[in-house]
Formats: sequence, structure tokens, C-alpha cells
Amino acid sequence: MSDITRLVGNTPLLRVRLFEREFPRVEVHAKAEWFNPGGSVKDRAALSMIEDGEKRGALTRDKTIIDSTSGNTGIAYALIGAAKGYRVQLVMPRNVSAERKALVTAYGAQILYSDAGEGSDGAIRLVREIVAAQPERYFYPDQYSNPANPRAHYEGTALEILEQTAGRITHFVAGLGTTGTFTGTSRRLKEHDASIRTIAVQPDDSFHGLEGLKHLPTAIVPRIWDQSLADEVWGCPTEPAYELARAVARSEGLLVGHSSGAALWAVRRLAGAIHEGVVVTIFPDSGDRYLSTGLFGAKES
Ligand SMILES: Cc1ncc(COP(=O)(O)O)c(C=O)c1O
Repeated sequence: MSDITRLVGNTPLLRVRLFEREFPRVEVHAKAEWFNPGGSVKDRAALSMIEDGEKRGALTRDKTIIDSTSGNTGIAYALIGAAKGYRVQLVMPRNVSAERKALVTAYGAQILYSDAGEGSDGAIRLVREIVAAQPERYFYPDQYSNPANPRAHYEGTALEILEQTAGRITHFVAGLGTTGTFTGTSRRLKEHDASIRTIAVQPDDSFHGLEGLKHLPTAIVPRIWDQSLADEVWGCPTEPAYELARAVARSEGLLVGHSSGAALWAVRRLAGAIHEGVVVTIFPDSGDRYLSTGLFGAKES
């Protein structure tokens, strides 16, 4: 039997030519994660954590799936919950984009709002309180602590990259949210070839506009974060990331979100340092999720 969850993963690897003139010997490729059925990289982690819960017996029909999420994981839980027949409740900061709220509601999930000023950490604190009050009611995957999150990338994303580049990858660049994408993928890549260099990207400040990414020095550090897997951790400024998201839409027809812009910012910095290599990065979601935020300058006054 086949259902929509079988379409998670196996995303295309696209060649990105934005920096080709400047750095002709640096080949850049990006995993187009908006090809996942829920439209983002988070489908991988959500499916992995839900299926792990089913296998362990922690997720049963009478339970409600609950987690804190800045948006994409919530959309993934909502879609997978609908496909598999589970109730889903999502705790998110009140200020997440209108498109995200509308999407999870369309899949039948319920939203509980946390204080916008407390960001994703406020959502984490609120979900912990709710679950602690009635633990028997909920399946709480806790994407920040659940090894099944990075495992999705260890078993999926990394192997796809090795296959799609025929093992030619020399550098891996990815943004840090829960850190699942970076840690899971980097762990497998380095096991395969210890010479592969890894660059993690976070916002350069606690106040930033890079939805989906976390500034680790001022955040609750995810338990799944493994610093030893990162050869470099770079802080990306918000506005240059936005500019690169706009640039890649116009020059290559790739409409990507803020965090893809941050990945491109790090790829450009890396290309300037190495001058030669095969760089693979992750484009976590599509820009159409952020049209109402004015990311592409199309906000009507
Ligand atoms: C748009 C976007 N980019 C990047 C990430 C980071 O992915 P990860 O949680 O695997 O670190 C997320 C995670 O929520 C995201 O929503």
C-alpha cells in the first residue's frame, strides 16, 4: 500500500550557478527539500520520529501528537498525522507566518500559541508544561532531543547526497534549527569519507529574521547537537541572506526561503576560502511560504 508519506525524501539535487563566475572551480549543489510532500526538509524528521514512536509503542491511536515548532515541522506533523490518522496539536510562537498557520489548520491540526517575544524557546517551554500536566494524553516527539530526527538524515539525506554526487562531495553546508539536518547528514558523510569538511550556519545574533534557524549561544541548545561534527560554525547576518534568496530566485528560478539564503551566504564565504571543490548544501523550503513577509520585496503598501 502506498500513501503520501512514501514520497518523503529522495529529493532532487540541483546545480546552483550563482557564484560560478566568481568561483569557476567551485561546484555548488543544493538539495531541493521543498519537493517533499509537506514542502520542507522537516518531513524527513517528522516521519522518522512518528514511525519510531509507532515501533516503540509510544505512539498509539489514543494519543495526540504534540510538539513545539516554528512552522515547517508542524506542517510535516499535520500532514503525516492526517495521512496516518492521528490528532495533532502544535505549539508555535504567535508571530509565525500566516501561510504556516493556514497550512497546518488545513491539515486539521490544532494550534496553541506561545508568546511571540519568547521565540521558539517559549514554545518549547509551553509544550513541556502541557505534556507534564497530562503525559498519558500525548505523544511528544521532542524534535530537539529525539535521535530519530538526525537519524532521518543519517539514513536518508546523506546517502542521497553521496549517490547524487557519485561520492565527489568535498564540503557540506547546512543551517542549524534543531540541528537534525546538520548532525545526521554530517555524521554519515564523515563516516564515509573523513576528509569531507562540514560548515554549520546559524544567525549571527539572537535577534534575527532567519525563520527556522537558531542562534545557539543564546538558545536552549538541542540535545541532539553534536559540535564535534562541525569543522566550522558561522554566524550569518539576516539582510545578506535575504539578498541571496532574492538573487537565486531571479537568476535561476529557484524560489527559496530565508534559511536557504543563509546557506548560500555560507557557501559563498566558503567558495572564497577554498576556490575549488564540490559543495553541497540544503535548501530547506520554498520562498512561497514567505511571500506575505515581504522577503521578495513584493509586499504591497
Ligand atoms: C526553514 C528551515 N530551515 C532550516 C531548518 C533547520 O533544520 P534542522 O531543524 O534540521 O536543523 C528548519 C527547521 O525547522 C527550517 O524550518
